[in-house]
Amino acid sequence: MTIRKVAVIGCGTMGRGIVEACALAGVDVTAIKVTPTKSGELSQVIGDALGRRVNRGKLTSTQAEQAFARIAFSDDIRRVSDAEIVIESVVEVFDVKRDVLLSAEKHMHVGALLATNTSSLKIETLAADLVRPSHFLGLHFFNPVPVMELIEVAGTPATDSRALERASGFCRQIGKTPVAVAASPGYAVNRLLTPYLLHAIDSLERGVADAHALDNAMKLGCGHPMGPLALADLIGLDVLKAMAIALAREFGEDRYNRPRILDELVATNDLGRKTGCGIYDYRGAEPVVSSFVLKALARVALDRETHHPQSLRAAP
Ligand code: CAA
Repeated sequence: MTIRKVAVIGCGTMGRGIVEACALAGVDVTAIKVTPTKSGELSQVIGDALGRRVNRGKLTSTQAEQAFARIAFSDDIRRVSDAEIVIESVVEVFDVKRDVLLSAEKHMHVGALLATNTSSLKIETLAADLVRPSHFLGLHFFNPVPVMELIEVAGTPATDSRALERASGFCRQIGKTPVAVAASPGYAVNRLLTPYLLHAIDSLERGVADAHALDNAMKLGCGHPMGPLALADLIGLDVLKAMAIALAREFGEDRYNRPRILDELVATNDLGRKTGCGIYDYRGAEPVVSSFVLKALARVALDRETHHPQSLRAAP
């Protein structure tokens, strides 16, 4: 059954990507902001993203214009009322997501599906207070959404099997490949990816190789499209930190320990590509290792000479 109308709540990197992917696939989509930025700015950001793809020859200007015309912008959550699927993609904080989901459900029509794009929270717990848990599921997209093919699809024990089928059909409709995964925090990908990215930053701190060398090693040695440090910057260091905290809380395993530099970068709002600077600084012609990271590495190396290596870990 074709989905004609989607609403996306939360318009950060992932939410905007989901909006773009839906609109490009011919689906009408309402982009609903929950933080106070003006929706005019949001339409500008999405318009610019489509424009860049036109400039790179990936889309015709007609395709971009038609896609843009399918997007309605709002900061009113009641606008979910005519959507067949509502996708929540707000910040990765349990209470915020739960409140947004409860509020969205109140305004949705009864047959509509409610999906969360959480990357690491327990969806069963998110569903706990919903009135229609049979219509709730996890739809986990990947960054950059317009390009990445995978969507992880997870139901809770309460999710109706027809809801899962309908959601998987929607993923295919927008040109993605749905993969069924258990409703376990981190699903399949982030459970594996998060320790890898944390370990890459830890290896940088320990002087295994410099940042470019580490990234090149994984590209050339393992055939990855980008190295782990560049990928951490693409995902967002705040998102990586939130995933590490959620997975450490859930599984209590050392593999989710955070290197100190990660917390320091998040504290200074150096979150990666989206803020122009993270492990790398993207503000020049080519990315270079950020001066903050270079200073932190020098300090960490000094610490290592005088302290126990455990001191290099951020507090749990
Ligand atoms: N938005 C839209 N399109 C984009 C884009 C963006 N931000 N970045 C790149 N693209 C498009 C390009 O237009 C191009 O499109 P075509 O395939 O139609 O030609 C394609 O992506 C390739 O782009 P480029 O040639 O410019 O660049 P590239 O070859 O270096 O690829 C990349 C860029 C797609 C990001 C690639 O490096 C890659 O696949 N990296 C790995 C990304 C990844 O692992 N993502 C998952 C992160 S985990 C996650 O998201 C889950 C979570 O919960 C945190």
